[in-house]
Amino acid sequence: MAFTGEQQANEEDKLILSLPREKGWAVPFLYLFQDFWYPARAIQGVINSQKYFQAKDGDVVVASFPKSGTTWLKALTFAIVNRQHFSSHKNHPLLTSNPHQLVPFLDLVFSGDFHDRISNMAEPRLFGTHIPFPSLPKSIQESNCKVIYICRNPFDTFISCWYFFNKIKLESLPELTMKEGFEMYCKGIIGAGPWWNHMLCYWKESIDRPNKVLFLKYEDLKDDISFHVKRVAEFLGCPFTQDEEISGVIESVINLSSFEKMKDLEVNKSGTVGFIRNIEKKYFFRKAEVGDWVNYFSLPMRETLSKIIAEKFSGSGLSFKTCS
Ligand code: PPS
Repeated sequence: MAFTGEQQANEEDKLILSLPREKGWAVPFLYLFQDFWYPARAIQGVINSQKYFQAKDGDVVVASFPKSGTTWLKALTFAIVNRQHFSSHKNHPLLTSNPHQLVPFLDLVFSGDFHDRISNMAEPRLFGTHIPFPSLPKSIQESNCKVIYICRNPFDTFISCWYFFNKIKLESLPELTMKEGFEMYCKGIIGAGPWWNHMLCYWKESIDRPNKVLFLKYEDLKDDISFHVKRVAEFLGCPFTQDEEISGVIESVINLSSFEKMKDLEVNKSGTVGFIRNIEKKYFFRKAEVGDWVNYFSLPMRETLSKIIAEKFSGSGLSFKTCS
């Protein structure tokens, strides 16, 4: 029996009411669904993408825990994959669109009326997602499409989350203090959290299937962006030719996607981008520094988070550079 839209919404309401819930950051509650925390509206997108998304072998999925460099990696991936179409900077889509508009979040595409959006997408299709690896649609996990994950050190990620979620929170909610946010973060209660499981699932997959999942670190990109742009292009099967290298195509990709360039563009300074609700584009660009956390963390906070990292990542081989 086929469900009508209304019946399906009722089923999802019932499901959400049955899930464990905790106080949220930017929304009243987060719900534990398939072992990770989400705002209620995001769960619909996860369920729909699991049910209906059919990955194609040429698709590219930019995956991340929130505030880890998603916007940057979306811009870089878009610029790398489409470099032949936009050889001059003049008419480049990154100058007139925010990366989240060019590389939509899979779960958001699937939280509304997605049929038109998906069928009109140019190929190779690029998607972003904060969905943890085990909850990705089976067709992403099993097809030959590529996944690029960006991971950031948990100290800077926390500060970036705390700022961002306080900016985009529902007006009816009070500001989340740093103390409250930190306690929730340390328990893993944050959208797409626990963050350690999010990172570890993609990490493990990148080791088991290096041709399927490329695991990048924000701090490494900051250190040597040129090396990583080449690495991404190779991973996606479109390495830069010698001619491209000589004629400065790599530099052009890097400049277009740079924090300074993007933050200054009119398109990113004003207006909103449609997420679960509209979010001001300027909030995606704050400081973009490695080690900014030292300006906010007390000694006990530093010790607590270091201990969690040591426990959770012990033996995994995944480690973090926390200062520049
Ligand atoms: S989101 O909401 O999950 O998509 O946010 P995300 O893009 O993952 O993370 C936002 C942080 O990334 C910084 N940022 C950048 N860094 C380097 N280069 C570019 N182009 C870039 N664009 C955004 C942004 O400033 C946020 O970090 P903080 O530390 O808050 O400044």
